[in-house]
Amino acid sequence: MAQAVGVIGLGTMGAGIVEVCLAAGHEVIAYDGYPEAREKGLERVRKGFARRVEKGTMEQADADAALARLSGAEAIADLRDVDIVIEAIAEIPEVKHDLFRELGATLQPDAILATNTSAISVTGIAEASGRPERVVGLHFFNPAPVMKLVEVVRTALVDPQVYADAIEFAEGLDKEAVPCPDTPGFLVNRVLVPMLNDAVRTLAETGADPIDLDRALKAGAGWPMGPLALIDLIGLDVQLHACEAIAEGLGDPHFAPHPLLAQMVEEGRLGRKTGEGFHTYEAR
Ligand code: 3HC
Repeated sequence: MAQAVGVIGLGTMGAGIVEVCLAAGHEVIAYDGYPEAREKGLERVRKGFARRVEKGTMEQADADAALARLSGAEAIADLRDVDIVIEAIAEIPEVKHDLFRELGATLQPDAILATNTSAISVTGIAEASGRPERVVGLHFFNPAPVMKLVEVVRTALVDPQVYADAIEFAEGLDKEAVPCPDTPGFLVNRVLVPMLNDAVRTLAETGADPIDLDRALKAGAGWPMGPLALIDLIGLDVQLHACEAIAEGLGDPHFAPHPLLAQMVEEGRLGRKTGEGFHTYEAR
């Protein structure tokens, strides 16, 4: 059933989530606190649909109809009446808590409040909202229009009906909805993030060429893209934060980010989004 969806934060993930929701027939109200980021995000969504038409996976008329269901919001208050809101802002716990406090005070009472956090406690976010029984994690994977998985994160505080509705919503997006406990890194990142950290460690300790390391994992272990290219896609800042959150959450320093990763983030080499990470990219 078509619903009104609010998406907050229009970076790579937020824009991808908007595209997925529109393609599934929902109405989307998109908001980003930074007007420039909002325009860039909306442009990204338009490009996503242009790409579908170009590839022949969508008719122009359907792309036009999807984009006609999209509107940009000027303020959080514009999302007041949505059925579900999906947050995809920066991975900073205090900032997310403040946002959910505001959402809890603003949205209509039956709204589902979802966070796309990679590794921050959904329970903490739920508590900050003041209506923890209506909060779930909906964790999409990058690129969101392509990757089939959505981890649906369940806290001990969520109303079972809200959780069931969240699963149904994710399945309605034509995604594989996998139930996950609210533990550090959920399921995928608990496995994947340490593996990517080990790729950085291997690079630093062996002095291998990043291109060779990626070629090796693709050809030798069946990775669709090399681990360093994948960190570039995810964003080195996101990977850094995920390592820190998992290390802290599990109380195990083995998961702490390799210093090379922290150094590259410090230098502003964040991967594809800045044009440089382990590899170099054309400006987009
Ligand atoms: N947006 C939309 N579509 C995209 C895209 C993007 N950014 N990038 C690629 N695609 C589409 C292409 O159009 C193509 O579609 P088609 O089959 O209809 O023609 C399809 O994806 C395959 O793309 P390509 O042929 O160009 O390239 P690849 O075959 O190399 O696939 C990839 C690209 C899908 C990104 C693949 O390399 C892959 O699966 N990589 C691993 C991605 C991954 O592991 N993501 C998870 C990251 S972890 C995460 O997000 C969690 C977070 O919390 C950290």
